[in-house]
Amino acid sequence: MELVFIHPDDKSRSLYRIYLENILEDCKVIEFFNFKKAQDFVSQRVEKGEKACDLILAASEGEFEDHSAATFALYCDQHLSRVPFVTIGERPLEEIAGFDSDHINKATTHHILLPLSPADFRAQILGVVYPDRMRLEPIAAFQKVRLINFFRYNKTHCNVYIRLGRLKYVKVLNANTLYNKSDLDKLKARDIEFLYIRNDDFQRFQVNYFHNRFLEFDASLATTEELKAKLEFTHVILQELVTSLGFSQSAIDLTEKSLKAIYALIDKEHSLGVLLHHFSLRDDYLYDHSYLTSLVACDLLRRMNWFTGERLDALGFAALFHDITVKEVSLARINRRDDERFCHYNESVKEKYLKHPLEATLLVQSHPHIPKDACIVIEQHHENPEGNGFPKALKAQEINPLSAVFIIAHEFVAELEKKDYDQDQMNSILKSMAARFNKGHFKKPMDAFCASFLSEAA
Ligand SMILES: [Fe+2]
Ligand SMILES: [Fe+2]
Repeated sequence: MELVFIHPDDKSRSLYRIYLENILEDCKVIEFFNFKKAQDFVSQRVEKGEKACDLILAASEGEFEDHSAATFALYCDQHLSRVPFVTIGERPLEEIAGFDSDHINKATTHHILLPLSPADFRAQILGVVYPDRMRLEPIAAFQKVRLINFFRYNKTHCNVYIRLGRLKYVKVLNANTLYNKSDLDKLKARDIEFLYIRNDDFQRFQVNYFHNRFLEFDASLATTEELKAKLEFTHVILQELVTSLGFSQSAIDLTEKSLKAIYALIDKEHSLGVLLHHFSLRDDYLYDHSYLTSLVACDLLRRMNWFTGERLDALGFAALFHDITVKEVSLARINRRDDERFCHYNESVKEKYLKHPLEATLLVQSHPHIPKDACIVIEQHHENPEGNGFPKALKAQEINPLSAVFIIAHEFVAELEKKDYDQDQMNSILKSMAARFNKGHFKKPMDAFCASFLSEAA
């Protein structure tokens, strides 16, 4: 069954999603953080004559872009009259402005009053979905939790298992033991979508889940090692949040945290060589690539004496999101239209990849908090001085000056990666880049990069 679920708060939404995926067998939860997006989704399906969904669950309060829960409920009453509409909140619907008696008295309207225990939540949801079922299913011995949720912190207070068969579970994370991103990546590489927690531990798990502040760190107080560990986790969560939901307030907050962590790292370690060294032993291309590009681009701004808060934010932001829609690492390494590695992909994959700068721009530009310059940089990040880049094959002088800084940083990082981040190769990489990036808006940042880097190395 398909369930549309709207809740403004990222943590609450993800916790309810964990409950729902345990309550309803084979349940696909489609999440939204505001009613406008939910209504767009539902109305598109209605217009195509498709079934919108099997159940709607919505936080009953909270105004989002002039679409409240009540406005959405009215739309659903008119267009999906038979789909159960369940609201959840701390006040009865009668007390919330906008909900009229016609909606409240409908047979498909249900309201879950908070607070209530997970067991009562389960009973109420099952009562809505299976009103005729007399005997409720027993609660399973293990509760499942999507793997992605474990990237929100680096320790659990209970053992965590994978499921190998109906009654066979194997422990993969130990209680109260730190784990790192690569432990989770290994599970991800095995296509494991869910991890499992004993039902006896679940109560404590949800309390810790809700109160954990692992990703709400203060960048100015963290050590270099802590910052790097947090950045790894925020990168995964950000990618998941933004590609599946768009820019919610939680994604914006997490972006700001990530940028602060990047700036703090740059402040703590002035030498680019030292920063790059940390990446030499790692094997997580998209993460390394995003963060290294932001470090080099911000460093370049400083070398050019072109450093302002706005430019720093635009470049940092672009670095975090420029490849956000690219999931396949081998594709993400391709920088040219005529790259022979495209022969491993069919035409539609290639076409889609050549449009990823536009795709990422579309994803980020709708949000008012996102620096406009960052959108331009994201759109232009695969343009080049030869004028045969993608998506638009812009000429060197048509490329935005800030984009030029980013493209140089991006190319430098890509070349360095090919050489396994060997610092001894930096000079030769810079020299060969200098011969290419010598026109239009590329010339100034490239000259500054070479001059200051070569003098630093001397
Ligand atoms: Fe890209
Ligand atoms: Fe990239």
